[in-house]
Amino acid sequence: MRIETLRDEDVATLCGWFDSEEALVLWGGQDLRFPLTPAAVEAMRAEGRGEPPGRLVLAGRDDGALVAHGQIVLDHRHGVARLARLAIAPERRGAGLGRVFVGGLVERAFAVPGIVRLELNVFTQNDAAVRLYERLGFVREGVRRSSVRVGDARWNTAIYAIVRDAD
Ligand SMILES: CC(C)(COP(=O)(O)OP(=O)(O)OC[C@H]1O[C@@H](n2cnc3c(N)ncnc32)[C@H](O)[C@@H]1OP(=O)(O)O)[C@@H](O)C(=O)NCCC(=O)NCCS
Repeated sequence: MRIETLRDEDVATLCGWFDSEEALVLWGGQDLRFPLTPAAVEAMRAEGRGEPPGRLVLAGRDDGALVAHGQIVLDHRHGVARLARLAIAPERRGAGLGRVFVGGLVERAFAVPGIVRLELNVFTQNDAAVRLYERLGFVREGVRRSSVRVGDARWNTAIYAIVRDAD
């Protein structure tokens, strides 16, 4: 899989990957509103245009087609990066692409000079994502119970991280 910056022509495809509020929030967190719009994606991309960039908005490609998306949010001052908004194209899930793509993002995040901690948030019922992150070496640091309201339900958020080369 090739990992590169998300392109203009990927945005409509990405917006089509989430068919309900639940699917959208599971992927992108509680701050997003359903349906995902090109303007919302554009706002994420805009954060990546600083120097140094505060957010890498990335695409995973297989034979040219968009099959994965993910973002790396960078806190250069503290040497902390966060993986966010990771997704595999709906028709390609469960076939090992998540492991390849997220593994690639882990390496990319730690290749940024000064980054020693890589963290992420995941809703605890997201079995595929939890399994994937634990297999990649992320350690669960805690759970923010009942942290998000989605429709009539309340969801728990787990915090995971990998720390390398800490003092
Ligand atoms: C979470 C997601 C990125 C995982 O990617 P994927 O390509 O489907 O995952 P993989 O095929 O690489 O599998 C990763 C692991 O999860 C397991 N897994 C896959 N689907 C699963 C499921 N539905 N339930 C439980 N485990 C599952 C796999 O067996 C594998 O574990 P293993 O290495 O022990 O065999 C993908 O399912 C997705 O895009 N989901 C919707 C968006 C989302 O929830 N993003 C995460 C936000 S935190």
